[in-house]
Amino acid sequence: MSNPSSPNRILIFDTTLRDGEQSPGATLNVEEKLIIARQLARLGVDIIEAGFPFASPGDFEAVQKIAREVGTVDGPTICGLARATRADIERAGEAIKPAAKGRIHTFIATSDIHMQYKLRKSREEVLAIAPEMVAYAKTFTNDVEFSPEDAGRSDPEFLYQVLEAAIAAGATTVNIPDTVGYLTPSEFGGLIRGIKENVPNIDQAVISVHGHNDLGLAVANFLEAVKNGARQLECTINGIGERAGNAALEELVMAMHVRRAFYNPYFGRPAESEAPLTNIDTRQIYKTSRLVSNLTGMFVQPNKAIVGANAFAHESGIHQDGVLKNKLTYEIMDAQSIGLTDNQIVLGKHSGRNAFRTRLQELGYELDDQALNRAFLRFKELADKKKEITDWDIESIVNDETQQSPEHFHLDLVQVSCGDNSRPTATVTIRTPDGQELMDAAIGTGPVDAVYKAINRVVDIPNQLIEFSVQSVTAGIDALGEVTIRIRHDDRVFSGHAANTDIVVASAHAYLHALNRLYATLQGQKAIHPQRDAEPVAS
Ligand code: KIV
Ligand code: ZN
Repeated sequence: MSNPSSPNRILIFDTTLRDGEQSPGATLNVEEKLIIARQLARLGVDIIEAGFPFASPGDFEAVQKIAREVGTVDGPTICGLARATRADIERAGEAIKPAAKGRIHTFIATSDIHMQYKLRKSREEVLAIAPEMVAYAKTFTNDVEFSPEDAGRSDPEFLYQVLEAAIAAGATTVNIPDTVGYLTPSEFGGLIRGIKENVPNIDQAVISVHGHNDLGLAVANFLEAVKNGARQLECTINGIGERAGNAALEELVMAMHVRRAFYNPYFGRPAESEAPLTNIDTRQIYKTSRLVSNLTGMFVQPNKAIVGANAFAHESGIHQDGVLKNKLTYEIMDAQSIGLTDNQIVLGKHSGRNAFRTRLQELGYELDDQALNRAFLRFKELADKKKEITDWDIESIVNDETQQSPEHFHLDLVQVSCGDNSRPTATVTIRTPDGQELMDAAIGTGPVDAVYKAINRVVDIPNQLIEFSVQSVTAGIDALGEVTIRIRHDDRVFSGHAANTDIVVASAHAYLHALNRLYATLQGQKAIHPQRDAEPVAS
């Protein structure tokens, strides 16, 4: 990188663990965040936005642990988000301290609508707060990013002033968010061009972009921004995030990889240059996508670009014929370039613990001894029922195991009776947080309904079931079934996920998993939302 404010490639800033985790029901625990952060480092992202440390003690701990474990000298920069307040910035500064390279990302809204209704502050006040808080952040780290929230709907002249002041105060990156996903590609490109032309000290900072997908334009907007000088892209795996999500990392990276010749000239390179435009190891993309989908419970739609189940499947006869003769007839990229290998049969009944551990490591999972033992037992049980064990089965087992904490309620037994001439009845035995073994039974419209009703009789926490889905992990009648559910309590959504060859058992575990998360939240402190709860006070 010749000039730090003008890198001759794209910096990938991954915000899966911050903006992505703001998706309803995608809440991750500290262990899950660490697993994802380690995989993001393998993927080669430049910056991990690990969370919003002021939100809660759990968020602080996650950012601090990621900074310590993943933020090594050769690893990515670890970033913590902070509203433009001293308290937020202090907390973020503390959390990122263990990282070899730590960044504070502070933000304040600059659109009239946000300033008037959310912040209740005048332009003059915001123009004073932004540089003051950037300067304060500089007392914790030299690497400070500033975002004018809702830049896409801000008055450009005012935006230029705020950015100039933030850079003068020491911001090394200025990030331009299209917070509500409102802009079109040419407008977003024009906004970046305007910033380059009208902010006098812009050459002292990297221009970054952040955008939401409310109109399905986030990736297109970013690519236009790249053509106009943006050099950092804020994105998430599978595009998860607030509302319709963020720009999808895999789509941006593969667009610039597959269409390198088109983008090279914007970086002053000859079109035919083979040098990558990002630092991403594209062969890690598929694995990362699966990991994030499994741990967050956010499914990837089958027709999703790059990582959807159908993205490389050639169903139609004409296509298959063409592909067999020459792949390039219908494929613009190779499935292997994103690490999609055939779903090979990798392990069997006689595979030992070492082979299991090695395969897990190859898949991106590093489990402690206890978790490994539990997962290995599950693997052996499955191998007794199912002859061929694939990577997907292994991932499914491990995700199930890593997601079990915190386990306040433990399901000891679930038993159902159902059929066309009987009333579906379920019995459950549950160990409660105070150590009691409680048994109850219920009748439902079907076996899963009966199980949920029986669980509700023991775990008495009101909630509404808003999503229930079952997917088969692999083909075959003996396949593992994965159940994902979402429940709502007050205004919050909690997801639960479980896998078993018996889908009724998986449903019971998935429900209890979501209830455990809900229970943990009720016990703990409510996490603060960085944008909706924003009430920045510069003191
Ligand atoms: O969408 C947004 O504006 C954000 C900011 C906090 C950067 O997420
Ligand atoms: Zn956002």
